[in-house]
Amino acid sequence: MPTIEEYINNQAEWFEQELCELLRIPSISTLPAHRGDMARAAAWIAERFRSLGFAAEVIETPGHPIAYAQSPPIPGAPTVLVYGHYDVQPVEPLDLWQSPPFEPTRRDGNLYARGATDDKGQLLTHLFSARAWIETQGALPVNLKYLIEGEEEIGSPSLDAFLSANAEKLACDCVVISDGGQFAPGLPAITYGLRGIVYFDLLLTGPDRDLHSGTFGGAVTNPANTLAKMLSALVDARGKVRVPGFYADVVRLTPRERDQFARLPFDEKQYLQQIGVSGTTGEKGYTILERRWARPTFDVNGLWGGYQGKGAKTVLPGQAGAKFSFRLVPNQDPAKIAAAVRAMLAGLCPPGITIELVEHHGSPGVLVPLGSPYVRAAARAIEHAFGRAPVYTREGGSIPVVGTFHEKLRADTLLIGWGQDDDNTHSPNEKFNLADFHRGIRASARLWQELGRR
Ligand code: BES
Ligand code: MN
Ligand code: MN
Repeated sequence: MPTIEEYINNQAEWFEQELCELLRIPSISTLPAHRGDMARAAAWIAERFRSLGFAAEVIETPGHPIAYAQSPPIPGAPTVLVYGHYDVQPVEPLDLWQSPPFEPTRRDGNLYARGATDDKGQLLTHLFSARAWIETQGALPVNLKYLIEGEEEIGSPSLDAFLSANAEKLACDCVVISDGGQFAPGLPAITYGLRGIVYFDLLLTGPDRDLHSGTFGGAVTNPANTLAKMLSALVDARGKVRVPGFYADVVRLTPRERDQFARLPFDEKQYLQQIGVSGTTGEKGYTILERRWARPTFDVNGLWGGYQGKGAKTVLPGQAGAKFSFRLVPNQDPAKIAAAVRAMLAGLCPPGITIELVEHHGSPGVLVPLGSPYVRAAARAIEHAFGRAPVYTREGGSIPVVGTFHEKLRADTLLIGWGQDDDNTHSPNEKFNLADFHRGIRASARLWQELGRR
């Protein structure tokens, strides 16, 4: 019988093939046309757990289905809930992909496909680590429950109700999520903070059709002009948000935390180079890491209105719109911020324009405690697999369910990501480094041992 490590090494090629199979399913949660793909992905995942001897089911929700699985119970052993998401973001612009988004392709040690790192590749590390235990030891050292959802990228709208209704079934000692990154290649991290988010869709309507901008311009309020004015009123040139009360509940960084961020090996030049920009702007008095991890922000995510074709067309558009969002830090209340944004925009709306503001999703920022034995167990497992102790970081992205796990299951989350900042998540040419994939499987296998030994 091979050891766990040997098994993981021997199966490397097969693990990659399995990941490719899941990556070929275009499970884009926000697009209604992919409903069937969502069901296929959930069924694929449930089937993989069933073949391990787990109790596995596909659970329908008002939105996309959840794949749920549970290992054969071991009385007295701790229980870990693994969370992941099989849904992915849209792939546009398609022409910027070097290989098609749903035809996984290996290039220079990476696997390229939508969902490779976010989150299919990362979530599968926790499936294959369980398989390694079962195939070599016959059993796991912990009880494992897997909650793999299909709505993370649209704000997890069905999960609150699901967690409330199934709190007993999901009861656990801690939650494990791999849906983020290392600090740098080969420098793994344990993440203890995530930002929250509020996301809006704004539609401004002026005249009931597009008009000649010469005949009507100057008399008729232009929705595109108004949109530009409104959006620029929300934020100043350095990124300070101007919504009244926006900063009232912000938890400030402690001097100790700032000191710890400053000690991380962050190379600004390399960072700029990686994203192809010549400089950055941001809130005065904060470093790049502080701005990304611990300060709230405003970003336009999409913007339209008027003529988009080639050449010029003198038109006063009837409508203009934008998608925009605020990233929030712990203690800011998404509902309170949303209400303040709504009131501010209403106050900025000139005669001749009607405003329609839709709120897509909101979730609060979170901080998870670092002092627990679970965190120490994760640190040992990561050091074992990566040959290096993890650093402790925060992240700028959001995983809405982390707050809900704390609230409804009274469980804290271990955020141990295997990705890299240059994985192109939500962008063309998303990739997952294959060495990170295999190290992730090893770290996960070791984590079950470390948690089981408590
Ligand atoms: N995996 C990301 C969140 C993330 C990004 C964590 C970077 C750590 C580092 C997740 O899939 C994601 O994209 N979340 C959305 C949530 C939103 C749609 C509610 C996000 O952050 O935009
Ligand atoms: Mn993700
Ligand atoms: Mn994502």
